[in-house]
Amino acid sequence: QKVELELEAIEKGGFDHFMLKEIFEQPRSIADSMRGRVQADSGTMQLGGLRDYLDKLAASERIVIIGCGTSWHAGLVAEYIFEELARIPVEVEYASEFRYRNPIIKEGDIVIAISQSGETADTLAAIELAKSKGATIFGVCNVVGSSIARATDAGAYTHAGPEIGVASTKAFTAQVTVLTLMALAAAKRKGTISESLFRLLLAELESIPAKVEKVLQAADKIKEIAYIFTYARNFIYLGRGLNFPVALEGALKLKEISYIHAEGYPAAEMKHGPIALIDEDMPVVVIATKDSSYEKIVSNIQEVKARKGRVIAITTEGDTHLPSLVDFTIEIPKVHEVLVPLVSVIPLQLLAYDIAVMRGRNVDQPRNLAKSVTVE
Ligand code: AGP
Repeated sequence: QKVELELEAIEKGGFDHFMLKEIFEQPRSIADSMRGRVQADSGTMQLGGLRDYLDKLAASERIVIIGCGTSWHAGLVAEYIFEELARIPVEVEYASEFRYRNPIIKEGDIVIAISQSGETADTLAAIELAKSKGATIFGVCNVVGSSIARATDAGAYTHAGPEIGVASTKAFTAQVTVLTLMALAAAKRKGTISESLFRLLLAELESIPAKVEKVLQAADKIKEIAYIFTYARNFIYLGRGLNFPVALEGALKLKEISYIHAEGYPAAEMKHGPIALIDEDMPVVVIATKDSSYEKIVSNIQEVKARKGRVIAITTEGDTHLPSLVDFTIEIPKVHEVLVPLVSVIPLQLLAYDIAVMRGRNVDQPRNLAKSVTVE
């Protein structure tokens, strides 16, 4: 028992939980997911696993992304990026819904299956259904040789390393990294992206690990904020554009490890009902980074404040306007809008972790959950 505990301590690398270790591994796991694939100085990139399928991807009329939970959130981020850069229509489907429908799949369709474990039963079943209808299947998995990886025609592995904590963290940012590379490769092959934007995004991607590192350095400040909200009974997470899937992911993190009810919502949708929930007992986390929807999200924050909601804002460092409007701010470095989820999700992972620890939860193995849902 003592040896086991010592072994586990070594495996946790000195962190209290695997989840915290994995949150702090993200500068490296993101870099590892780009290694050998991105050469920003020469403005080149390659995804070996897709080499024979790049023309098919570039020519596809539709991409259907399937996944569950956090992997589904990564798919939602990819939808924005593929449509913005490669101008290919994308639909994102819960694998558990897709598999029981009679979905319309056409010959040229590409299906991208996202799965950290590569063993999720719903995702595997959805792949088989899509295959039976003639789709070409790409995989984005974290476990080499996993069932889903073996069931796909091609794909690109995330190189996040083993993810032990049930709540997915480094796998999510690795998935978004790989999906961004796929979208860049498709856009380049299709000629829908300018050379300058292509090179700019490759350079920006290479700067992400350092930017994530910078956010991790604010961990103590985030813990102080978490302390204040330990006993909240509900949370709302708001975001727009690429930060909407990040709001969903932040809410899922909190739910699954602290057992606090939380939901992510598109910020503009609040006025269509959910704003009735807002009062001084409802903490609202708003991802309000300086990008194309900044002015709109600031007005959403004002709507929440007018109803006495307490607001924690994720802001772009140097933003001097928002701190005067909200209760708490957590700064992240300036990032190109297309890549912002890789950095804006980090504070939300830490916030959920800190609140769960303060509530005495079993962070690495939350109740009722399994790391890989191999049952239906
Ligand atoms: C995420 O924190 C959860 N552990 C869960 O939603 C997970 O993302 C989902 O079960 C999908 O798992 P997979 O990526 O291994 O397929």
